[in-house]
Amino acid sequence: RMAEIEIRDIVESDYEEWLRLFELYLVFYEKSLPTEIKEATFKRALDPSVDMWSSLAIHPETKKPIGLVNYLRHMSTWSITDQLYLNDLYVEEGQRLKHVGRSLIEYVYAKGDAMGAPNVYWCTDMTNHRAQLLYTKVGWYSGKVVYKRPPG
Ligand code: ACO
Ligand code: ACO
Repeated sequence: RMAEIEIRDIVESDYEEWLRLFELYLVFYEKSLPTEIKEATFKRALDPSVDMWSSLAIHPETKKPIGLVNYLRHMSTWSITDQLYLNDLYVEEGQRLKHVGRSLIEYVYAKGDAMGAPNVYWCTDMTNHRAQLLYTKVGWYSGKVVYKRPPG
């Protein structure tokens, strides 16, 4: 495990580094998004009136952001308490397998407990086995499949 990995919520001045990591995450998915969406996501994650957050993993020596997690809060018909949906998780290639990903998820768990939304869930591709090697250790497989409204 990497020593003293710090996880913290983003601040305004993180935009450049946050964008760098978010874009690397999108490259992983072979996706690109218009600048206005990326800016809006960052702004909303900073806005205290919006139930969406973004947190960064900071390298203990370089103090540079090396990982990112974006998550949001919503109601459920099956619980009085809200749930947290972990939308995006990314760790820089050279920093993987040092528990950075695990620390980011555990940070979201702690935030969820603190805000009264302890129920945290997320989705991943069936084929993303590397991510699932982590997920089976910090979570359990729900047995669900995800469907989407078709485009058009
Ligand atoms: N055999 C057995 N276990 C393995 C293997 C292997 N070959 N490879 C990895 N693992 C285990 C590790 O041992 C570790 O478990 P441990 O904590 O018990 O040691 C775990 O998998 C990896 O945990 P971390 O080191 O905490 O994870 P990492 O910092 O490497 O980040 C992540 C994982 C986020 C999936 C990273 O690989 C990444 O960014 N990938 C590209 C983007 C991606 O797939 N993001 C997730 C998409 S899903 C979503 O966004 C909600
Ligand atoms: N072979 C082939 N097709 C079949 C078969 C079969 N044996 N059985 C059903 N189908 C098809 C039907 O032909 C129909 O397709 P079509 O529109 O092309 O004819 C389709 O499956 C059924 O569609 P509907 O009639 O619109 O669905 P229905 O009114 O029967 O409701 C539902 C389906 C909601 C899943 C119902 O069975 C139900 O309430 N099940 C119990 C609760 C449940 O499972 N809820 C969903 C959980 S997931 C969630 O809540 C988000």
